[in-house]
Amino acid sequence: MYDVDAVRRDFPILGRQVNDRALVYLDNGASAQKPQSVIDAVTRAYGEEYSNVHRGLHTLSSIATENYEAVRGKIAAFLGATENQIVMNSGTTEGINTVAYSWAMPRMEAGDEIVLSIMEHHANIVPWYFLRERQGVELKWVETAADGSLDPQAVIDAIGPKTKLVAVTHLSNVTGTVVDVKAITAAAHERGVPVLVDGSQAAVHMPVDVTDIDCDFYAITGHKLYGPSASGAIFIKSERMAEMRPFMGGGDMIREVHRDSVTWNDPPMKFEAGTPGIVQQIGLGAALDYITALGMENVAAHEASLRDYANERLHGLNWLTVQGNAPGKAAIFSFTLDGAAHAHDISTILDKRGVAVRAGHHCAQPLMQHLGVTATARASFGLYNTKAEVDVLIDALELCHELLA
Ligand SMILES: Cc1ncc(COP(=O)(O)O)c(C=O)c1O
Repeated sequence: MYDVDAVRRDFPILGRQVNDRALVYLDNGASAQKPQSVIDAVTRAYGEEYSNVHRGLHTLSSIATENYEAVRGKIAAFLGATENQIVMNSGTTEGINTVAYSWAMPRMEAGDEIVLSIMEHHANIVPWYFLRERQGVELKWVETAADGSLDPQAVIDAIGPKTKLVAVTHLSNVTGTVVDVKAITAAAHERGVPVLVDGSQAAVHMPVDVTDIDCDFYAITGHKLYGPSASGAIFIKSERMAEMRPFMGGGDMIREVHRDSVTWNDPPMKFEAGTPGIVQQIGLGAALDYITALGMENVAAHEASLRDYANERLHGLNWLTVQGNAPGKAAIFSFTLDGAAHAHDISTILDKRGVAVRAGHHCAQPLMQHLGVTATARASFGLYNTKAEVDVLIDALELCHELLA
């Protein structure tokens, strides 16, 4: 049995009040709170075991290196990959930019195409936009259906002879839509096209096995996974990694530097320039231990019950529009209040009731334009949320309706 009360006790911040109300934290899509075990790991790493990694021969450097490198194995196990396929970094944004500069840029030319879905986060748009600006690469957008779902066949149909990459999210941070990235990858590979998956949200809400998906690149971000900010990783298939040139130079990515020549470290280190986020990654390792101990299947089942309950209650409000209701979606709800209420006003009123939600375009402006809205309020649930918190959200929304209608 999933004991959500015990889980909540692991997160010290959940015990605090905001505006004299018990905190109801529903902004997990932006960043999640941290369990005590992560806070302890970070404190220990700084307080007892800190040094730079991969460099010194002294004891602390060996301990820090061992602790840091152990995280590569934890990430690999979490994603169903092997350690040498994991490049550690500051999160999804860095991961996707690495692919754009190290893999895509040297092999794409004017007229080549990248297929994207309309619901991509800016982190999976702007790096490709740079290639469009600099090299004349074209972006081909695939739209979502009225219920927010993305038909994998529509993505497959968009792949043409000029397509060099499909870059698609696994789970929308706005609507919670889950994308069948395995079907897309299989069809893209039949056409010789690699696939990058933005797993920022999916890795938090469902078990992920990149070997089963068979994608070429899978980016995750640690701060949404209950780990520290500026931690994360990207899985890169070994064949793709062999094709990549490093784009950031310095530090750990180097083997030898001479006046006239430089040789690279072996992958994945070849793509990890400079002093890394040592303590951040160690904290991420503790977060993955925490989630793994709970069991991702159990987390997903708990969140599915929250999703069903929140769906029922939100859809019962006839003055509120939820954007997207795709089958099998995650517990992420973006909504607008009918009438003139702005998402920022909704968020401000909810905050007075201790309820933290995100308001704005959620770094997904093409999707906002497709939906015909400028902003939404978003309640995104995590592994520590409860049905009672759904009730607090609904009561606070009733207040918004009263004040703003
Ligand atoms: C779907 C998705 N992709 C990418 C990102 C970017 O993640 P980060 O800012 O941690 O690099 C986010 C974060 O909001 C996201 O939700």
